[in-house]
Amino acid sequence: MDVTIFGSGYVGLVTGVCLAEVGNRVLCIDVDPAKIALLNSGGVPIYEPGLDELIKQNREAGRLTFSTDAEEGVRHGLFQFIAVGTPPDEDGSADLQYVLAVARSIGEHMDAYRILVNKSTVPVGTADKVAAAVRDAQAARGAAVEFDVVSNPEFLKEGAAIEDFMRPDRIIVGTDNPRTGELLRALYAPFNRSHDRVMLMDVRSAELTKYAANAMLATKISFMNELSNIAEAVGADIEKVRVGIGSDPRIGYQFIYPGCGYGGSCFPKDVRALERTARSLGYDPQLLHAVEAVNFRQKDLLFKKIHAHFNGDLQGRTIAVWGLSFKPNTDDMREASSRVLMESLWEAGAKVQAFDPVSMPETQRIYGERADLALVEDAVSALEGADALAVLTEWAQFRSPDFRKIKDTLKAGVIFDGRNILDGHLATATGLTYISIGRLPMT
Ligand code: UGA
Repeated sequence: MDVTIFGSGYVGLVTGVCLAEVGNRVLCIDVDPAKIALLNSGGVPIYEPGLDELIKQNREAGRLTFSTDAEEGVRHGLFQFIAVGTPPDEDGSADLQYVLAVARSIGEHMDAYRILVNKSTVPVGTADKVAAAVRDAQAARGAAVEFDVVSNPEFLKEGAAIEDFMRPDRIIVGTDNPRTGELLRALYAPFNRSHDRVMLMDVRSAELTKYAANAMLATKISFMNELSNIAEAVGADIEKVRVGIGSDPRIGYQFIYPGCGYGGSCFPKDVRALERTARSLGYDPQLLHAVEAVNFRQKDLLFKKIHAHFNGDLQGRTIAVWGLSFKPNTDDMREASSRVLMESLWEAGAKVQAFDPVSMPETQRIYGERADLALVEDAVSALEGADALAVLTEWAQFRSPDFRKIKDTLKAGVIFDGRNILDGHLATATGLTYISIGRLPMT
């Protein structure tokens, strides 16, 4: 089948390459000429495991092409995927200008039936706005060609996006036209393992499903973070509590890891946008508000612990930071807890000496050259001359470090484990002070 994808960002590229991989002819359109030039010369603008190899194979096979020409895109695909950004407005609601610009451009150029498939995370009711934008653009040129708008939210996790797309738990298709639903079912047929994963529903329910999933996961994390603070207060170990409650299949072990807060481009933005939608309709979403507030406080927790350990005097100290991205296997720094910590440390007069396996260029891009930030080539180098170590991202390579080396190198011999990934007993046995989230002091 012929598929056009508008937006060659994270979601667009993954969707495009996976649909090409199963035999479709996919044309990816982006307004950024530099990005398209890079993709056409074999480069990949984002880091995602397995993506570059898959793009290469499908380009070579002639199934995947890239262009800046929107008109060519509208001509190409029966399916017109919209996978452009919806950055938050100042008030937290999703900014639809890019989504609606694509809709207008489809309306301007379409001369045969098209299915607009919305992959961007957009507020409930956006499909209606997309349809109106297409109709307006058609009316302006005196055309009235038939089309449908489908809500098909994506549930990819950064770092595991290819696998998530190729082996999905569910494929949500929101449409009010049963025939369109069947066409989408056919497009997604190669991704069904053992049973049909396509769930057809009305457009608004599909739009809300996306927010509901992310808000539920964010709620689990904030709940555990709240509990971790209570555990500290009452003298309990949140890691024991986690194992204890996770064994109940109704609760489950996933997404109950306490830590220094959730980040990324999805949870923070989506929780706020859903809260905003509810408020705009006159409903006070108290739980969503608390999920966000708990996370905000949790992101500051590691700084508070460091500040307290050094009796409020961080002037001239150097803190080694392991992990900068908001989670492992991505270079994404959006709403990363590391940023909150580093900015607080700088404000308090401390220096940061950081290492991350992939997101140091991104850190450099965000903060530029500054005297109080050194990005070093490996985890051990980050310790040199530092007073303390803070672990911010649960990269596998940080999990079992050489505690002896850490003890011999750090001036103040203290580790702040923001993800509870280190063996605190081993660290303590080596003579280090080990401070983590929601656990009893180790002896
Ligand atoms: C999230 C969802 O997991 C995906 O299903 C969804 O498709 C995606 O958002 C999206 O809307 O696009 P992602 O943001 O890539 O995916 O990352 P997650 O793996 O969900 O992690 C989010 C944050 O929560 C990270 O900062 C992570 O460290 C934190 N986290 C996760 C915890 O603090 N504790 C946990 O138990 C799990």
